[in-house]
Amino acid sequence: MQLIDGKEIARQIKAEIAEEVALIKSKGGKIPHLAAILVGHDGGSETYVAHKVKACEECGFKSTLVRFEDTVSEEELLNKIEELNNDTDIDGFIVQLPLPGHISEQKIIEAIDYRKDVDGFHPINVGRMSIGLPCFVSATPAGIMELLKRYDIDTAGKHCVVLGRSNIVGKPVATLMMQKANPGNATVTVCHSRSNNLKEMCLQADIIIAALGHPNFLKADMVKKGVVVIDVGTTRVPSDKTKSGFKLTGDVFFEEVAPLCSYITPVPGGVGPMTIVSLMKNTLLASKKEIYIY
Ligand code: GUN
Repeated sequence: MQLIDGKEIARQIKAEIAEEVALIKSKGGKIPHLAAILVGHDGGSETYVAHKVKACEECGFKSTLVRFEDTVSEEELLNKIEELNNDTDIDGFIVQLPLPGHISEQKIIEAIDYRKDVDGFHPINVGRMSIGLPCFVSATPAGIMELLKRYDIDTAGKHCVVLGRSNIVGKPVATLMMQKANPGNATVTVCHSRSNNLKEMCLQADIIIAALGHPNFLKADMVKKGVVVIDVGTTRVPSDKTKSGFKLTGDVFFEEVAPLCSYITPVPGGVGPMTIVSLMKNTLLASKKEIYIY
């Protein structure tokens, strides 16, 4: 069994990006600039955004954090998005989700200029991804594909079972795994909360991507020997053993499943660290205007 070290790969990629940015700077080129809009004071969102700002520093990017109280109106938020869309120094920006209930997340996502949508959530980016055109791929699926690539894991012709059908992970990663590409070229089955034969599907899988948000869901009796397991789950489970009072827990019962795997991602330290570097990669691409050529 080989552990997929997402933390180390993320460190390498950040170093590669920083090197490229240093070269761009030395030639007097444009320094990539990411903006993040944070609404309210949700603990998880605060932490994620702080990590994104820190990653920008590590990569040599400029970053701008725009904060609003959770009483902000949809119109105010839309005005700020319009301002960022038109700001030529900002290459890409994100609106941290979730948003308060009185604001339509879909309306906000669709207001972002798709050429600055480094989260890859805009329907134009999702559509372009699904037909294999250059686009911004959202962070978690892009991070998973990068891990498979860097570990040289063969996906062509393999049976990949994706557990979960979310717009952010399940659907896009299923699309990428079936794409005519490397990694890709897999036969993909998507299972979800209404699937009748989920265990049978998992037992046939060469690769399992677990993105259900159900801690310790995948057990040893659900996998075959030699399987590759990618664990996307990051549920905060209460724990009296940690200072924070919770333990980040994946969708895979790691202790039980890991001995059966050829490769497995740990939680934490697997997919998680890759998501932020995917955002950094997208921001670099946005600053180089490499995604959309007119
Ligand atoms: N909330 C949880 N994950 C994400 C993400 O990848 N992007 C944004 N904007 N919000 C999130």
